[in-house]
Amino acid sequence: MKPEIRIFKDVEALSRAAADLFVRQAAESVAARDRFLVALNGGSTPIRLFQLLSADFRADVDWRRVHVFWGDERCVPPDDPGSSYGQAREILLRHVPIPDLNIHRIQGELGPAEASKDYSLLLKGFAVPLLEWPRFDLVYLGMGEDGHTASLFPGSPLDVSEPTMPVTAHYQDRPANRVTLTPVVFNSARMIAFMATGEKKAKTLAEVLSGRYNPERYPAQRIDPGKGRMIWLVDEDAASRLPHGFIRTFCEG
Ligand code: 6PG
Repeated sequence: MKPEIRIFKDVEALSRAAADLFVRQAAESVAARDRFLVALNGGSTPIRLFQLLSADFRADVDWRRVHVFWGDERCVPPDDPGSSYGQAREILLRHVPIPDLNIHRIQGELGPAEASKDYSLLLKGFAVPLLEWPRFDLVYLGMGEDGHTASLFPGSPLDVSEPTMPVTAHYQDRPANRVTLTPVVFNSARMIAFMATGEKKAKTLAEVLSGRYNPERYPAQRIDPGKGRMIWLVDEDAASRLPHGFIRTFCEG
């Protein structure tokens, strides 16, 4: 299935649309399966989304049925400013009535190998038949300027059948040791919301969406949920280098 590409005026409009997806997917998933399994991303892009979910959209979600996971994590303790779990907890989770038992963090403090193994086991507990992991109802992903997503960095192994992977990354000033879910897990999701903002990502976004398939160089190209929906939510700056005629939708708001 081709990805949908939605273009927004700014981060605020994009984040509102991302929050709206959360609300809709949560309602549909709870109606169909009595729970909503969502994987969050780290980094700066989802901050406004988290704020909106904890405030304007808070009452629109049945938080008791929400199970939160992470697509990747930095190997730091939960209170470290680099922890993606810590960020989501401070901005979102501590402000909504989600049961503690429904928060499934990657234990970065264990170190990459141990934390990866531990999270594989945890995912197994939510596995659906034929898979060793859950089929997420919604996965949020971001993209780095180098085309990485979650902690799948350029040059990382392509042929991975395990659901999680320890990673040593070299990207900007962020902690190097990480754990990531792998494409087999992302690609079995029911919906993926890929978010990218800012002019600095424009060239890479054009390569990822309209360039040659080169997943070793642009790991974001490895994300393709065959039976699921993939929606790119991007702002005008990030979209500025997409080729003319490329199919996209400009969104109001
Ligand atoms: C993380 C994510 C990573 C992130 C991109 C984009 O850093 O936790 O795993 O994949 O989504 O690096 O980060 P920004 O949103 O900060 O640009």
